[in-house]
Amino acid sequence: MERLPFARPTLGEAEQQAVAEVLASGWITTGPRVAAFERALADYLGGGVQVLAFNSGTSALEAALLACDIGPGDEVIVPAMSFVATANVVLRVGARPRFVDVDPLSRNLDAAAVAAAIGPRTRAIMPVHFAGLPLDLAPLHDLAARHALVIIEDAAQAIGTRCGDRPVGASGNPVCFSFHPNKNITTIEGGALATSDPRLARRLTRIRFHGIEKDAEGGVAVPEWGGKMNLSDVSAALGLAQLPRLDDFIARRRTLAVHYAEMLPRHPALLTPLDVPGHSWHMYCVCVDFARLDTTRPAFMRALEQRGILAGIHYPAIHTFGLYRRFGHGPGDFPHAERIGEQTLTLPLFPTMTYADVERVCAAMADLLPV
Ligand SMILES: Cc1ncc(COP(=O)(O)O)c(C=O)c1O
Repeated sequence: MERLPFARPTLGEAEQQAVAEVLASGWITTGPRVAAFERALADYLGGGVQVLAFNSGTSALEAALLACDIGPGDEVIVPAMSFVATANVVLRVGARPRFVDVDPLSRNLDAAAVAAAIGPRTRAIMPVHFAGLPLDLAPLHDLAARHALVIIEDAAQAIGTRCGDRPVGASGNPVCFSFHPNKNITTIEGGALATSDPRLARRLTRIRFHGIEKDAEGGVAVPEWGGKMNLSDVSAALGLAQLPRLDDFIARRRTLAVHYAEMLPRHPALLTPLDVPGHSWHMYCVCVDFARLDTTRPAFMRALEQRGILAGIHYPAIHTFGLYRRFGHGPGDFPHAERIGEQTLTLPLFPTMTYADVERVCAAMADLLPV
């Protein structure tokens, strides 16, 4: 029986050839392919933004915070339900994450909860488009304008997501993407940042590479600290081969997600994910009330595994991790994030899956959800 992972990259001849060409070219680190990938991403996002490639989504987020001068003494509002990187980058620059609960269905930041969390130290809001589901930024833009806050979008899971009539990444805010192999397109490891602010882009270019700035004559200056966050041309070549396939990948993900919604059993212990226009279906995350079924998540996952299905967990609520408990957080602080964290299960979803694969997962779920 073929085992179905919860995610699998779609790589074919175009990717193999693109990588082989870079390897043979004599230039494998940051160079012409990175520049071409940045231009291709900017075009994909509608042409109104500049894009900088990074070696990970985490680096892009860290650089964005630094370029916005966020550091010690500052607070950044982040959702309690996200991958832990969303909060870790805030700590990394010396600021404090201020957690806020999420909407129980979309898993995205709840704007009313954000408004209530804004305090004198708040400098930024870092919304996440969870699993590719677009977050409506309008209420957050209102809050940001009223309180002079920066919005840095964590769109690690949202390349190809559309928000109204624009792609996520076209807002003009600093918007950070990830191209980790689980994402809708991959550069193995990699990320990118889109912004409409040329001054911010210039600073980010320095921060991305040792703080170095070159002048027209080739002279080098180092006006501020910078890290080592650049993408290689090998990765960019992969990205250039993947990007033209992105919209087809998303269309296929959507078709499979619709099939899941049709075929999964209706059961009071199962909550299926919300669908909204523009969703890019990076993941298919359900909630299962394991206690109601008199079981546990590990036991449920083992039973799925025996049926050849490798589910994932995205994610435990961030504030329940030991690192964040040390800042005084704990169970009970953010009930929606905690319930999702305890009940979430990521079912297989990737473009090369078949309808029969979806039906196999749904049959296994029906087995484990007795009426
Ligand atoms: C919401 C979120 N933020 C940030 C990241 C970090 O991205 P990367 O793994 O490319 O560093 C991820 C990666 O999964 C993510 O899901």
